[in-house]
Amino acid sequence: MATPRPEHDLVVIGAGPGGYVAAIRAAQLGLNVACVERETALGGTCLRVGCIPSKALLESSEVYASCQDRVGAHGVRLGAVTLDLRAMLQRKDGTVGALTKGIDGLFRKHRITRYTGHGRIVGTGEVVVENGKDGVGLMARRILVATGSVPAELPGVALDGDRIGTSTEALSYPEVPDHLVVIGAGYIGLELGSVWRRLGARVTVVEYLDRILPSMDAEIAAEARRLLERQGLEFRLGNRVTGARVDGDHCVVECLNAKPLHCDRVLIAVGRRPMTTGLGLESVGITLDAGGRIPVNERFATGADTVYAVGDVIRGPMLAHKAQEEGIACVETFAGGAGRVNYAVIPSVVYTAPEIASVGRTEDDLKEADIEYRKGSFPFLANGRARALSHTEGRVKVLADRKTDRVLGIHIIGPRAGDLIAEAAAAMEFGATSEDIARTCHAHPTLAEAVREAALAVDGRALHI
Ligand code: NAI
Repeated sequence: MATPRPEHDLVVIGAGPGGYVAAIRAAQLGLNVACVERETALGGTCLRVGCIPSKALLESSEVYASCQDRVGAHGVRLGAVTLDLRAMLQRKDGTVGALTKGIDGLFRKHRITRYTGHGRIVGTGEVVVENGKDGVGLMARRILVATGSVPAELPGVALDGDRIGTSTEALSYPEVPDHLVVIGAGYIGLELGSVWRRLGARVTVVEYLDRILPSMDAEIAAEARRLLERQGLEFRLGNRVTGARVDGDHCVVECLNAKPLHCDRVLIAVGRRPMTTGLGLESVGITLDAGGRIPVNERFATGADTVYAVGDVIRGPMLAHKAQEEGIACVETFAGGAGRVNYAVIPSVVYTAPEIASVGRTEDDLKEADIEYRKGSFPFLANGRARALSHTEGRVKVLADRKTDRVLGIHIIGPRAGDLIAEAAAAMEFGATSEDIARTCHAHPTLAEAVREAALAVDGRALHI
């Protein structure tokens, strides 16, 4: 007699930020939920080899750099500062371990059944968990695909899983490279490039475009470039990488119309592509769009009956918090909720020093869309708290509609920009005007006062500049 197949209201494939949060929210709403994940640790790319370990290393390397050359300004004198890379990497692994185990605990708390193996759809309402043994067949009233993304490859570059690698390898180099070449001046390139620069490597970032951070506001990105160059990052802009290879004891990076670069490690950070292979999507008639993503409607339904998708496998920015919002919205619609994601208000943060954060539209966007706007800008140099911290680099920029004064975008480069952007997102979510922000009492002395001053500057009445 065949073993009965476990039945679930919802089977989530993938336990990254999109999948695990959707599973928890669905369980809170009373559904019988299962989650299939092929890695033994839950949390997906973000927790295991993305956001969290990179932030752990960014923090550690910043502590190291500060001890070397920044605490002096505070009148703190240290003896010889040495690097214990092994301990730094262990701390990072410990941070990851604690958080992934935390999700295990959340799954137990919410009675979410976990299957370890590769999840594949084999027909409407049917998922097989392939685990190298017999496999487990599951029955699902609904299936949610949240399989995320993998690093995009670069033609002509053969990853060797060691010296020519992706962000995964760059989170665990066993020694500080003498010379690291980073391909791509996006989020990953600048964050991990900063980590190894601070630890002592020479870092060259090669970028195809003539600017860094293509998705950020151009003026803010230009300021970021200037500040990062001051920290010793070298940029080769307008350079297309055509190949990279290991040659004896070093690597060679070939660029179009420019001299090849010789280095001892290469980090490829040219974007990510949706993870859709081996999921059995064709078995339920799903065809991918031109970008290799799963097409969905506003309720995250795919063209296939009872199959849904969220996160990096669908349209929109590949960001953990965007995936989480989508996961929540999607399962709330199952329970009769409205389930809405406001794509106009998704903040993004680059965790360099200083941090760079943005929400809403950039000046280029507004010009292209022919939207008339006013702009207010305020430098941290004129903010008391920033002075007290000795972190005076950067600025806040507020863009507001010329006629209605509604805030259209806020862009920040400066200390704790990643935290300051939360106020900007909340204001935009509530449809605030720049005057609303300007009239909101901000505690003194805080970095957040720079946001208020930039809002005042929209109307030409900043107080401290
Ligand atoms: P990205 O899309 O941010 O940047 C890739 C860069 O590579 C672009 O500037 C592109 O012009 C350049 N490029 C492409 N082909 C090239 C070539 N042949 N030669 C030279 N340059 C080339 O992608 P990235 O940094 O790999 O990040 C991947 C994803 O992960 C992004 O979607 C990002 O949103 C997400 N992420 C988010 C983080 C955060 O929120 N802090 C941190 C890390 C990643």
